[in-house]
Amino acid sequence: MPNCIKIILTFAFLSLIANVKSDGKKESKKEKEKRLKAEALLRAQQEEAERLERERLYQEHLEKLEAKYQGERESELAELNSLEQKFLSAQQWKINYREQAKWEHYLSCDGTPDPTVPQEINTFMSLWRDDQDEDIQLVMEKEEVVLNLIEKLEFLLLEASPEEITDKQRDQYQEVILQLQDLLHQKYNDATQNLLKIASMYEDSETGNMHTVLKDENITFCIWVNLKKKARFKSHVFQEAGHGFELPKALALSSVAVRVLHTRYDHVSPRWVQCQGLPRQEASYSLELAEHPEDTGQGPGEEEEEGREEPSTPAAEEMGSNGRKSAASLKENSNNTADIKETKEETEKNSDILDVPSQEEDALLQEEAGGREEAPKAVDLQQLVPVGGVFHISALQLPPQAQDVGDWSMLLDAGLEVYPYSPGEAEDGTQEAVQITLRLPDNVIYFQAPVVARWDPAGQQWRTDGISNITYEAEEKSITFSMGAFYTVALLQDAHLNLPYQAWELHPAGVDEGLFTVTAVFATIQIQIKDDQCMLSSVVVEEEEVLSHIAGKWMSPFALRAALKRAGVNIFPAGYSSKYVPVPRKAALAEAKAYEQMALLAAAFAFAHSKWNGEAGPERVVFKAREHLTAGSAKDNDWSLFMFDGEKVQNLKLTETSEAFSEELEEESEFHSTLYHMLKASASSEAMDKVERAGFLFIDSVYQLLLATRVLAYS
Ligand SMILES: *[C@@H]1O[C@H](CO)[C@@H](O)[C@H](O)[C@H]1NC(C)=O
Ligand SMILES: *[C@@H]1O[C@H](CO)[C@@H](O)[C@H](O)[C@H]1NC(C)=O
Ligand SMILES: *[C@@H]1O[C@H](CO)[C@@H](O)[C@H](O)[C@H]1NC(C)=O
Repeated sequence: MPNCIKIILTFAFLSLIANVKSDGKKESKKEKEKRLKAEALLRAQQEEAERLERERLYQEHLEKLEAKYQGERESELAELNSLEQKFLSAQQWKINYREQAKWEHYLSCDGTPDPTVPQEINTFMSLWRDDQDEDIQLVMEKEEVVLNLIEKLEFLLLEASPEEITDKQRDQYQEVILQLQDLLHQKYNDATQNLLKIASMYEDSETGNMHTVLKDENITFCIWVNLKKKARFKSHVFQEAGHGFELPKALALSSVAVRVLHTRYDHVSPRWVQCQGLPRQEASYSLELAEHPEDTGQGPGEEEEEGREEPSTPAAEEMGSNGRKSAASLKENSNNTADIKETKEETEKNSDILDVPSQEEDALLQEEAGGREEAPKAVDLQQLVPVGGVFHISALQLPPQAQDVGDWSMLLDAGLEVYPYSPGEAEDGTQEAVQITLRLPDNVIYFQAPVVARWDPAGQQWRTDGISNITYEAEEKSITFSMGAFYTVALLQDAHLNLPYQAWELHPAGVDEGLFTVTAVFATIQIQIKDDQCMLSSVVVEEEEVLSHIAGKWMSPFALRAALKRAGVNIFPAGYSSKYVPVPRKAALAEAKAYEQMALLAAAFAFAHSKWNGEAGPERVVFKAREHLTAGSAKDNDWSLFMFDGEKVQNLKLTETSEAFSEELEEESEFHSTLYHMLKASASSEAMDKVERAGFLFIDSVYQLLLATRVLAYS
């Protein structure tokens, strides 16, 4: 018997009893209680029945919708598929663009090699290698060319799809990058040596020693030469750079030069990746290294951040590359974690073997670390990343001084030599240490006190031991610390400190233009998108705009990503980031498809963060969307909430202010296979026109940004 009929019958029965009662004697207290109880029970039953009935109707409704959804699925997917051709167009456009650029470069004959052509780049390198007498200035000039070559290759590695470059080419480009990095650093060493030979010609009248600072946008070269060996000149501050040092007494009396070579690029960390058991370790690097053990931080580089991560996380890398295969690579991601972990464990094992400092040294390091550091001392570069480049701090052997500038012949052979400094004990029994003060690089942001790490050439890793007594002056933008020996040093920051996002929003801002806002933990980042370019419009930290050197410049989404990461604003999770950021996992399928379809609709719709995304479970993503034709036309309460599992979209009745998560459908809404059809159902024809007409480059840029920030997985 259906519930409703049961209820009606029960009612009839109840009124019958009541009637009987009313003409009987007065109701006793007990009877009254009994009657009330019965009535309450009945009411409860009735409510339950109504609920069940509603549920039944809703289920019926859902079944109907489901059937409709199934019936329309094929045609919806076909329509989506034809829209998605825009991604392929974008990919083709970019391939053509790169070919065109290559051709134009060829025609321009500007004297710089094409780094993808082995003969050209090898000739370039060998000619430069043969150039013996260079001074620092000349190397700095060449540096710009080299950095641009490296950058070209790095972007190509990031952007090109597998159809465009083969694995072999990939390895080859990677190798060329490393060689260029090595060569650049080698050139700085050679030029340093050339300078040291004639240092006495430039002695400072006040101290009798020689010191100088040379700098450009990417490098600061500081050198101090101890010509007079007087104990009272054991410390020096390079005024133009803000770096300084204080030597232990023994060194202050020696024939020594101190060099602080700050590169804003980081060509050192890629070695860590290389050492992770990836198949790229080639001879050329290790050979040069053997000659200058101190200099293991060979090499130049800058987007090396990219270079570094890329090999370690194939999935992340692929995510970067174009177009449609990204969904697949995201999917694979979930399985990658294990691989990465494995590699890491291996590395740790390796480093145990490799990193065998002498016992003395070891003891010294232990002591210096002095309890400050309980954490593991080898840095996990997936967790902490160098920000602001690398400081190569070295003590160098002073070569015999040229008596006469013409007398080059006797000076030519010897290469740069590291001063063999081993720390002694001071009179009071404490270890003698070198004290270093570094001015923090401009144009980067440290959201917290940076971690100081030194490069360990043997283990090919950054380590935090061996550095003590760290004083960080955020206001003065300086950091001071002591080291038992001379090291290559970097200032590290938690790679994930700006994750998870607190909010994000993407909305149209004109024809093929959009604005993407990400509210991260410490910063709010606004990015304008136009066609194939994007531009940082602002980064706000504590209500203050920062990074003015990047803001306002149009660049490719990849370049912007590289620039932000380099500046310490990392809002670009890697494949492994879920290990470090406490966010609920999301199925890659739902996530990637959502990005694709949002991008396709981004010309006329706004999308934004919903707090319910975290509650919807791993298989589904939840976000807000609304039509957005002109700025200011949309109000906050125009948002609707959508849930998407990659296969099926639904419009939720829920709002951001609802009490609890519920999957109930918005009235009169239906299931759809695509976000496109879902939004179309209630959109104006003007909006859908805009969507059809949206340029493929804009769509692709939006997609690249969504994929790079992964706002649905990290918020
Ligand atoms: C600095 O490095 C960037 C690439 O990292 C390059 O584009 C720029 O030209 C370099 N500038 C100089 C002066 O070397
Ligand atoms: C993950 O890897 C395991 C072992 O290689 C494999 O059996 C499984 O199918 C993979 N899962 C996914 C989602 O690819
Ligand atoms: C630590 O720094 C303080 C002040 O900068 C200095 O006086 C002290 O000698 C340093 N200690 C060591 C072990 O270098």
